[in-house]
Amino acid sequence: MAKYKIAWLPGDGVGVDVMDAAKIVLDKLQLDAEYIPGDIGWEFWRTEANPLPDRTIDLIHNCDCALFGAITSKPKEEAENELIPELRGKGHIYASPIVRLRQEFDLRTNLRPCKAYTGNPLNYKDGIDIVVFRENTEDLYSGVEFFPLPDDVREAVMKHNKKMARFDKHPANEVAVSLRINTKTGCRNIVTDAFEYAKKFGYKSVTVVEKPNVIRETSGLMVRTAREVAKNYPDIQLWETNIDAMCMWLIKNPLDYGVLVTSNMFGDIISDLCAQLVGGLGFACSGNIGDDTAVFEPTHGSAPKYAGQHKVNPMAMLLSTKMMLDWLGETEMGERLEEAISSVIKEGKVRTYDMGGSNTSLEVAQAVAARL
Ligand code: IPM
Ligand code: MG
Repeated sequence: MAKYKIAWLPGDGVGVDVMDAAKIVLDKLQLDAEYIPGDIGWEFWRTEANPLPDRTIDLIHNCDCALFGAITSKPKEEAENELIPELRGKGHIYASPIVRLRQEFDLRTNLRPCKAYTGNPLNYKDGIDIVVFRENTEDLYSGVEFFPLPDDVREAVMKHNKKMARFDKHPANEVAVSLRINTKTGCRNIVTDAFEYAKKFGYKSVTVVEKPNVIRETSGLMVRTAREVAKNYPDIQLWETNIDAMCMWLIKNPLDYGVLVTSNMFGDIISDLCAQLVGGLGFACSGNIGDDTAVFEPTHGSAPKYAGQHKVNPMAMLLSTKMMLDWLGETEMGERLEEAISSVIKEGKVRTYDMGGSNTSLEVAQAVAARL
């Protein structure tokens, strides 16, 4: 029996292409693992009205962790229209399977390292080394939403907060509500993870990115909790910034920042910004990490127009694979993989189109494998 069981979830579009690339390096590394394919994505939405079938959930339960490619997501109405006819009009609502996976398996930490590898022509500045800790199961992603707004919800809110009166003149079918729900536990966990990481890798500060001057309760909870947690790490400074200003500071002085920690929605936004500083989504790797399992994925989408062409940059996927190796405890393999990746980038001979080259995803993976 293999040492590890890994759920293999290519998903949609170029997710399949980059997973092919990941397989090339994993085979070369000879990781002692069994890779078990799982169904996830648009095809299963269309034909089963469920992009994340129960059998896939079971599979992940039975594996050590999962490697995931990419997923196609569309707004509610568009998604409904693409269902096979017999499933249409039955009230099925599309929900992103990756968001569901995060909640179903309590993958509470979304870890997104953004490092400028030397020689990457897409680097905004050399030397950038930012790691985003994004709370991964709460906040505006809780999925607690209302439309049209039920009367009793409106009344209950009004009873507790008179500011709701401002919306009285709007009829129910013209008011949409998405709740931002954050818990002390959620805040404490993500901030603690960020500080532990800073401690382990020698970062001198952790920056909590929120908006407590306006969103007093939820952002306030995160910042207050960060201050509490910070007391346990006297050698690491806590910096506090607002999300809007942070977007400017990251463009102005990206080298000033190391570990960032934030809530789910702000983390989604700021991690794309940070990814762009180091080469864009082709370099954006991530780990969705829980206590029992984890799902590693590049943060790019499924780019349907490139599907099957092996055109997109597999680096984000390969770096996610490195994160998986680290999480499994195969840190020596993880290091070797990162060294091979950075040496291919530095040499600059084998590059996908986004980096100005004409190589395929697979050629890039082969170049990395050749250096292992
Ligand atoms: C990400 C993506 C997802 C998110 C989408 C695909 C649901 O943007 O992982 O950052 O919003 O979290
Ligand atoms: Mg995103």
